[in-house]
Amino acid sequence: MPVQGVLVLATLKVLGINASARKYGNTAKMLYIAMKAARDYGAETEVIHLYDYQLQPCMACYSDNLYECYYPKSCTFIGRKDDFRLIADKILESGAIIIATPVYWFNVSGILKTLIDRLTALENVIYHVGKSLLDGKVAGVIAAGEEAGGAQALSWLAFTLNMMGIHIPAWATAYYHGKGDVLKNKQAVYHAYNVGRSVVLAAKLLQKESTDWYIQPPGDKIASAIKEAEQEAKNQLANSIRVRPWVQEQKPMLGHSILAKKQS
Ligand SMILES: Cc1cc2nc3c(=O)[nH]c(=O)nc-3n(C[C@H](O)[C@H](O)[C@H](O)COP(=O)(O)O)c2cc1C
Repeated sequence: MPVQGVLVLATLKVLGINASARKYGNTAKMLYIAMKAARDYGAETEVIHLYDYQLQPCMACYSDNLYECYYPKSCTFIGRKDDFRLIADKILESGAIIIATPVYWFNVSGILKTLIDRLTALENVIYHVGKSLLDGKVAGVIAAGEEAGGAQALSWLAFTLNMMGIHIPAWATAYYHGKGDVLKNKQAVYHAYNVGRSVVLAAKLLQKESTDWYIQPPGDKIASAIKEAEQEAKNQLANSIRVRPWVQEQKPMLGHSILAKKQS
């Protein structure tokens, strides 16, 4: 029985998504390390392997009519069934997710790109209820490659998740490049462990503070923000003219003045 006045927080669930075909490979190993860290810091964990699921490509309903792309409708994929709904529901039930991908041609694996495209249905609910279903969720991201492209793949992944309303906390990104066993690389293991820990710490802090992270700003606040920004830019322009006189002086382009001399 919960004691009155004491906030009782539900156990945090962290979903690990392995986007590599090799459940025994470096991507999966880094994810297993992150999942262990998440459990060490009090979360429940579950790992799913994307290659065990059928995922059809996005059909771009959004591009025809942005109101047509929404969860759960778009999960059924216009009559053709796939497993997107299963994955989407697991993501929605979790307070945090950790996505691990191999580096394929300097990017995430194809199946992960398909999942990310399909997640538009969760984000796009914003047009129906004013809020992305992913708003305020927490994510960590991991990549394993042999030579190069890990940072590039994760930059894209972290940015895209953030554009869907997801928090990426401090130290929640980790990548490894090498042909050997990642578990022999202390630094990569430390990084992966920190992804799991960081995601749990951030999600627990956020559990206490429920809010809508994306808002339609109130008209008066937006109007005064525009006014202040305009005024600040004007002030900066006035100050800058001393060191950047060309901002105001309109000189003829070099090519034009040479041409004018030749013609005279
Ligand atoms: C289609 C394909 C493309 C790849 N492209 C890259 C790449 O751009 N950069 C890289 O470092 N490794 C690349 N690799 C190597 C894999 O990232 C590497 O083998 C990685 O360890 C795979 O993760 P896994 O152990 O989970 O299978 C590629 C492998 C494949 C199959």
